[in-house]
Amino acid sequence: MSMNIAIDGPAGAGKSTIAKRVAKELGFIYVDTGAMYRAMALYILRHGVNEKEESAVAAVCDRIDVALRYVDGNQMVLLCGEDVSTEIRKEEVGNMASVTSVYPCVRQKLLSLQQDLAAREDVIMDGRDIGTCVLPDAPLKIYLTASVETRAKRRYQELQEKGQTCDLTEIMKDIEDRDYRDMHREISPLAQAEDAILVDSSDMTIEEVVAKITDLAKERMA
Ligand code: DC
Repeated sequence: MSMNIAIDGPAGAGKSTIAKRVAKELGFIYVDTGAMYRAMALYILRHGVNEKEESAVAAVCDRIDVALRYVDGNQMVLLCGEDVSTEIRKEEVGNMASVTSVYPCVRQKLLSLQQDLAAREDVIMDGRDIGTCVLPDAPLKIYLTASVETRAKRRYQELQEKGQTCDLTEIMKDIEDRDYRDMHREISPLAQAEDAILVDSSDMTIEEVVAKITDLAKERMA
């Protein structure tokens, strides 16, 4: 049987950076489920589908083929066979993913993909509903969070390093809007699973968080 670790938390808490490193330490596969929602959102954006109409989104759902490939341990996201790993990182794609991920047709499609992957491999999977819905029996669940201010500042720095102009107040507003949508949707909202361990990374370094989760995983696997 495969060993699975679930990491959930709000946007910008550092889930992907941390999960990637923990995966390397443990020899697990890192699965970024947000990337799958982003790929679906990218299709919707490219094809001008009205994201406010559930029926319009449902009508194209069957046509959207999302797949993950691993090259040298790195996750690649394919949308209908095209590598969209870089394009899905844009802010507008992330915001669209938060909007379109409320629909059952979108969630149902990705849920089976995620569960199949976890049944086959040792995975550390990050997202919003991994501990509560995708992998309810995962032996280790982490709820990784940080204050809105910390998350906005980290994002601001990231964008500045990439040479992009950005506004801290706007980033904070985007994060708050996204948190609200992700936490208040009807199906599989972002929530801490009852048996998840809360890790607040506001005052922790990446190394400290990685070490904490790796130690917990080793304990659970022993
Ligand atoms: O983690 P991220 O920023 O790449 O995720 C983008 C959006 O996708 C997020 O705002 C909500 C949605 N999402 C989801 O509903 N469930 C998941 N397991 C992962 C992401």
